[in-house]
Amino acid sequence: MQNILDRITSGVNGHQDENGYVNDDARRLFHGRGHCFDQLEFVTIDWFSPLLLVSFFKAPKEVWLDSFKQKLVALNAAEKIENIILQHRYLQGSPCEILKGAVPDTLNAHEGGLDFRLTIGKNQNVGFFLDMKNCRQWLKEQAPGKKILNLFSYTCAFSVVAASAGATSIVNMDMAKGALSTGKTNHEINDLDTRSVFFFAHDIFKSWGKIRKYGPYDCIVVDPPSFQRGSFDARKDYIKIVNKLPELLATDGLVMACLNSPELDFDFLRELFDRVGGFEEQRVIPVPDSFPEVDKNKGLKTVVFKKT
Ligand SMILES: C[S@@+](CC[C@H](N)C(=O)[O-])C[C@H]1O[C@@H](n2cnc3c(N)ncnc32)[C@H](O)[C@@H]1O
Repeated sequence: MQNILDRITSGVNGHQDENGYVNDDARRLFHGRGHCFDQLEFVTIDWFSPLLLVSFFKAPKEVWLDSFKQKLVALNAAEKIENIILQHRYLQGSPCEILKGAVPDTLNAHEGGLDFRLTIGKNQNVGFFLDMKNCRQWLKEQAPGKKILNLFSYTCAFSVVAASAGATSIVNMDMAKGALSTGKTNHEINDLDTRSVFFFAHDIFKSWGKIRKYGPYDCIVVDPPSFQRGSFDARKDYIKIVNKLPELLATDGLVMACLNSPELDFDFLRELFDRVGGFEEQRVIPVPDSFPEVDKNKGLKTVVFKKT
């Protein structure tokens, strides 16, 4: 337990600059899920200054939890932490417990000078994926003057980064209307010009005509869920997306393909692109150092492919 507490204290006090974070940038402070910390695979801790979000993926032992809560509120960095929320993700509806302060009415995650609106306590996910930091950085470097397609856009964090970096146009598509609405807010709070940013609340599998109409694209982001009942199952549906990519891409176009399923490995992703053909692998985008994994095949996998 001391390991977690030390990480929180040094993270909140801004001692993680070697990872490229500035003081109030959002970041993972403790990633037990990568199995690098014995018997702590059930907990993750995120810092959305001034809120500390502790997520449990399995019920902690009662004695451990009681002692952990006491130590959390008494931390050295306590004055910087205004709110401490515990989210019990192993329970139906992922309920939140307030340990200190309250759930703020409005809270933004900060990263690289941009803001991203968070929704704490209502959904399983808060609206911003910290493990995508290096992917956002990659897109920022690619985006100037480019036409971007952001598939499975969720709250459009990739779009915000691309728009701020000077993309010519961006098409965001996600079937979740609420997520897209937060996506629009995310562009507003960063004062971004959205005249060439499109938000389509559609099922991607029923919208290829529309997607094609706005193309061809210089860069396509594919970041689906691993499994979402009735809408996406990576095992059988990812190939359907990859099949469509060649006709949607401009010459020399790039695809950033993400895969989040612990059961499916890098080879699964590579085989999809091999099977469709006409692509060469350009690089792997690693997860941030704050997401250590014993087995890299189990964490987030991101590979960039170029159309040949
Ligand atoms: C992993 S999240 C995407 C995260 C996002 N790229 C980011 O970086 O914040 C997956 C998203 O896929 C969407 N989704 C799942 N199946 C879909 C489908 N068939 N068509 C459109 N969107 C879908 C969900 O609504 C969800 O927002």
